[in-house]
Amino acid sequence: MTNIEVLRAFYARYITAKGACRDPSVQAAFALVERENYLGPGPWNVYTLAGYISTDTSDPAVLYQDILIGLKTDRGINNGEPSLHARCLDAAAISRGETITHIGSGTGYYTALLAHLTGEAGHVAAYEIDPGLSAHATSNLAHLEHVRVLEESGTHAVLPRSDLIYVSAGATHPLNSWLEALNDGGRLIFPLTPNRGLGGMLLVTRVAANSYAAKFISPAQFIECIGARDDATGESLVSAFKSNTTAAVKSLRLKTPADQSAWFVGADWWLSTSEPA
Ligand SMILES: C[S@@+](CC[C@H](N)C(=O)[O-])C[C@H]1O[C@@H](n2cnc3c(N)ncnc32)[C@H](O)[C@@H]1O
Repeated sequence: MTNIEVLRAFYARYITAKGACRDPSVQAAFALVERENYLGPGPWNVYTLAGYISTDTSDPAVLYQDILIGLKTDRGINNGEPSLHARCLDAAAISRGETITHIGSGTGYYTALLAHLTGEAGHVAAYEIDPGLSAHATSNLAHLEHVRVLEESGTHAVLPRSDLIYVSAGATHPLNSWLEALNDGGRLIFPLTPNRGLGGMLLVTRVAANSYAAKFISPAQFIECIGARDDATGESLVSAFKSNTTAAVKSLRLKTPADQSAWFVGADWWLSTSEPA
């Protein structure tokens, strides 16, 4: 193994251990996909709570840490935290040959990981609303024939029927178009985020035609998913997340009146602490 392969393999072990991953294929995917091929030339800007700091080097070794890298620093768009995505990809329980929709693909690093996990028998549609990032994703992912990049909003497009919809930007509610595009057994993973403070990565599984299991996978903070935010809901979510009781959530209910098991009540949806109906 070359030095960079050794570093990538350790990074894969570290972030999947930190993300409490159980599926060994997630570690294998992180050990294989070259992060440096998706971030443009270095030196890179690393996101910190105190602002961006430069790596001061273009040696890709520096990328194999659990750090966020700026993609468009003026807009706060980053290549997300590896251990968070490791945890989410593990929870996504991807089988080979599945059809995956990725919303907010940026320049394509996590799209490439999704593509690796479903394999060449699968399909990945990657939506990226920003034209510059979408153009980079298109060229970065051109070697993967089963990946299609669309410079389009994943909140307005008619999505392909999907086994997994993986959203990488913060929403205040699950969109009906996302839920309707899920095959039976399909999973939606998205950051449910309040107007400020931490939200959570929510895994929604379509267990029957109108029945959805739901659980929070991890705390999360993301930039906004354009077209998937409602200010009043985002405000109500602030106090819901402050209660620190996300572990109690077990199902997503649609278009039914909320009962005493409600954890959060949105416009025509609510999260329940009871099992799916
Ligand atoms: C936090 S960044 C993540 C990028 C990428 N997943 C990564 O980690 O490298 C979120 C991305 O979502 C994109 N985005 C926001 N709203 C979107 C929408 N409605 N449809 C498609 N992309 C969207 C942004 O332009 C941004 O590139």
